[in-house]
Amino acid sequence: MKHKISNSIVATLVFAATVSASLNGCAGSRPEQTQSAEYSRQPLTPTSTVTNRSTTIYLLTTTGSSSGAGIRAQDVSTSETLQRVVDDAYAKFKDDNSGRNADYIPYLASVSSELFGIAIVTVDGRVFVAGDTGYAFSIQSCAKVFTLAQIIQESGEEEVLNKIDVEPTGLPFNSTIALGLHDDQPGNPLVNAGAIATVSLVQASNATERWNKILASQSAFAGEQLQLIDEVYRSQTDTNFRNRGIAYILYNSQHLFCDPLEATDVYTKQCSIGVTARQLAVMGGTLANGGVNPITKQTVINAKYVPRVLAVMMMAGFYDESGAWAYTAGVPAKTGVGGGIVAIVPGRMAIVGFSPRLNEAGNSIRATEAINYIVQQLDLNLFGSLQ
Ligand code: DON
Repeated sequence: MKHKISNSIVATLVFAATVSASLNGCAGSRPEQTQSAEYSRQPLTPTSTVTNRSTTIYLLTTTGSSSGAGIRAQDVSTSETLQRVVDDAYAKFKDDNSGRNADYIPYLASVSSELFGIAIVTVDGRVFVAGDTGYAFSIQSCAKVFTLAQIIQESGEEEVLNKIDVEPTGLPFNSTIALGLHDDQPGNPLVNAGAIATVSLVQASNATERWNKILASQSAFAGEQLQLIDEVYRSQTDTNFRNRGIAYILYNSQHLFCDPLEATDVYTKQCSIGVTARQLAVMGGTLANGGVNPITKQTVINAKYVPRVLAVMMMAGFYDESGAWAYTAGVPAKTGVGGGIVAIVPGRMAIVGFSPRLNEAGNSIRATEAINYIVQQLDLNLFGSLQ
């Protein structure tokens, strides 16, 4: 897809406002908490130590071994080393109470901000955990990665290039400005627009089949049957006017491939899947292991497609902080407003952090810190000469 400055940015925004208003009218009275603005424009509390958009990531230090002082790559296979680095990361960041829970989905505001868990799953199926790794949180945007993998597996890699694109937007995850700047094209499968389009590309003849296929696929990545968290689904359904507006914009520009409300509803359901940090690490471990679940040994996605998925994660997994994350940590990762982050080290492991307090871009602060710490300690940066 070629990107051109849209001749209809203003028209798009007017259209979005009109759609949103009309949806609001249909849905009845509008709740007070809605995602009415692009995410990063919502300020954090004055007590937060995070003062601007990318501060969290820029403040991360390279505490590990880029200078040779940390644990060497050959130590990665040592179980003692992996458990020690997980425990160290937990101890080091557990008292960081900066940021705050997402609240544009009311349920997320009610989740305990104190929860903090870290999990590693290696490609040979070993599991290392610390903290709250048994708590089921909503997967949110981390699900986008696995639905992307699903449609590539189902329809081939050209489908994504031709119908969604894989370019970072440099804008918040729920941006409508990004749509306007790019002729109302979705951008990439990891922003909301692209993720809703991805859901619409799952081959299904109705909403039930679409949802069942997505849940089955996400469960195969996890190696066990995952469940919808109904309260999250209802809370998000009550407030996701903006996503419905995005779906209608995409439908209007022929970048959505099923009914807009069906796509938004199934997308909302996939965001509401419950996962523990351990389960999410198995999901990521499946990508790290070339598409084979390291626990069940089931092939979930053909190995040749895994690099496509990881490339998109590297470019867009942290939304408008993706560049800073790549610069700092150098591993593909995906964040979710439920507080989860899954990072993939190909051929080695997946690292998951879970902590509900987010920075202004919607990325979990302690999960970012913990994963970055582990990456530095174990010399896992993919751009490092030792890898
Ligand atoms: O569509 C939404 O707004 C959310 N359900 C998912 C967004 C999200 O997780 C962004 N993550 N950092």
